[in-house]
Amino acid sequence: MIELSDKNKLDSRLENLSSNFPLIINLSNQKGGVGKSTLAYNIADGFRTLGFKVQLLDMDIQNSCTSLNTLRENPFINIETIDTKTTLIEIMNSSIEDSSEVLIIDSDRCSSTLSNLAIIGSDINLTPINDRVTELLSVVDRYNQLLDEIEMSTTKDISSYVILNRVHLFAKHFEHIEEMIMDSSKMKILRTIIRDRSIYNESLIDGRTVFEASELNGHRDAVSEILSLCYELIDIHIKKRG
Ligand SMILES: Nc1ncnc2c1ncn2[C@@H]1O[C@H](COP(=O)(O)OP(=O)(O)OP(=O)(O)O)[C@@H](O)[C@H]1O
Ligand SMILES: [Mg+2]
Repeated sequence: MIELSDKNKLDSRLENLSSNFPLIINLSNQKGGVGKSTLAYNIADGFRTLGFKVQLLDMDIQNSCTSLNTLRENPFINIETIDTKTTLIEIMNSSIEDSSEVLIIDSDRCSSTLSNLAIIGSDINLTPINDRVTELLSVVDRYNQLLDEIEMSTTKDISSYVILNRVHLFAKHFEHIEEMIMDSSKMKILRTIIRDRSIYNESLIDGRTVFEASELNGHRDAVSEILSLCYELIDIHIKKRG
């Protein structure tokens, strides 16, 4: 979790943001049900809360974010379903004109040309993974291999940041996970951890994000986790751009 002192440091960096944005974040993992759509939807609202103009590109075969949006009283206007490479490239290119924008891609779990393009074109690849050892073992190796393969088709360095999601509320020790991920050449682990909280599912029942569900248990903690993730991503992006 990002401490207050980090946030203050970040706030001073935010003053010089325009040269570092837009920021394109792609959520991907070949494994299904890891929380890509839930996190994409919530971090989109997190960045919006921080004052950014946000666009969410829905490439999930189930179109989860688009469907969630239909459950809302007041639908978000900035969720777009993407199913062709041309549309994705057009939107990525047009966002380059807009320095206040954050583009979030909820990627398809299959490794298609479209999802590979999202991996190559984004500034940050975010990979939600659960902390169960069996899941980590299968996902990290396979995903690292996929990134290696994609890197062969481009001149860009391809990497991914693992976000531990649905972690048990009382789990405290993650050293074994950090080691596992450090062993993979293309993946790094984020400091932020998203806990297993019923609010993530309950708020989605009527298409709300955790920011909009103040009556539900765990609201403050979930909001703080999501904002912590947004801050960490901004920080990584600014450091990368130097
Ligand atoms: N931190 C969390 N705490 C509790 N439940 C969560 C959390 N993150 C995700 N979930 C729940 O896990 C389930 C799967 O999440 P989600 O649909 O976002 O995964 P996905 O990776 O997008 O799946 P798919 O690969 O099918 O697109 C959903 O019911 C969601 O509400
Ligand atoms: Mg999904």
